[in-house]
Amino acid sequence: MHTTILVTGATGNVGREVVKQLSMLDGDIRVRAGVHSIIKGENLKRLPGVEIVEMDFEDPESLHAAFTHADKVFLITPFADDQIEMAKTLVDEAKKAGVKHIVKLSALGAHAEPGIQLGRWHREIEKYIEQSGISYTFLRPASFMQNYINYNAASIKSEGKFYQPIGEGKVSYVDTRDIAAVGVEALTSEGHEGKIYDITGPEALSNYEVAQLLSEVTGKQVEFVDVPESDAKKAMTEQETPEWMADALLELYSVQKAGHSEKTTDTVAQVTGRKPHTMQQFLQDHKDCFI
Ligand SMILES: NC(=O)c1ccc[n+]([C@@H]2O[C@H](COP(=O)([O-])OP(=O)(O)OC[C@H]3O[C@@H](n4cnc5c(N)ncnc54)[C@H](OP(=O)(O)O)[C@@H]3O)[C@@H](O)[C@H]2O)c1
Repeated sequence: MHTTILVTGATGNVGREVVKQLSMLDGDIRVRAGVHSIIKGENLKRLPGVEIVEMDFEDPESLHAAFTHADKVFLITPFADDQIEMAKTLVDEAKKAGVKHIVKLSALGAHAEPGIQLGRWHREIEKYIEQSGISYTFLRPASFMQNYINYNAASIKSEGKFYQPIGEGKVSYVDTRDIAAVGVEALTSEGHEGKIYDITGPEALSNYEVAQLLSEVTGKQVEFVDVPESDAKKAMTEQETPEWMADALLELYSVQKAGHSEKTTDTVAQVTGRKPHTMQQFLQDHKDCFI
């Protein structure tokens, strides 16, 4: 009997790694990559045992085919102001289709009270899954190492500098490859039902330390520039970042600056049997993005 696993948000940072890692497993697993845009999903098509299905979370009509005969779901919703509605629609579809297990990508500190907006959105989705009656595993990762590629690589390339309002704050950044590996275990082995995994990298680093590592790995001087919150907000406004998003990010940065994102866990090693990637390894593997 084969197992069909649907991965939503399959072209994103975590989703594409989950699809890739599932496709490399032996066993009778069919991987269904739920993609928003077929063009972005082209690379996933080439992976063995992977089928592509188009999904628009804001269009419930488009979801039926994706969920039909899906046994398990890796649930990713984007950083969007209607992510709760999107996720609830996905959980409802999962229930209708008889999905047996949901692994949800959440965020570290989602349960904190009062916590921050980013966490509260995730906790509301977690609660909806809890009351759905579907078996679940919640993955609560720290900030992604891949954020340095997505948000800082451009200025590192052009000016050798990157900017954030977090001062000396240390963060236990995690590689999305390790988040995916934990998720793949939760989807394919026993004993993860009802579990909540706080997932971090092996160490907490300040941006000054990351800049030092970037300088060593790239062979060029990279500087971290601490900026006041007001400057960060101005820059986000100039880049046309929606106000809700800028406010949520600034709230996260203030928590990081205050030293509340330093906690590390051994979840990756405990669940996968492998050590998590260090920042040095991550930067080395992606150094071309920063040169
Ligand atoms: N970044 C961090 O440090 C961090 C830390 C902890 C938790 N998280 C959580 O991680 C999640 C994001 O994961 P990620 O970074 O892997 O995702 P991502 O790279 O932002 O990608 C989002 C995925 O969702 C798809 N998508 C967007 N809108 C859609 C729609 N309307 N219908 C269907 N698909 C849609 C995107 O496809 P298109 O690109 O084609 O639109 C993409 O595949 C968020 O919930 C965030 O809160 C992030």
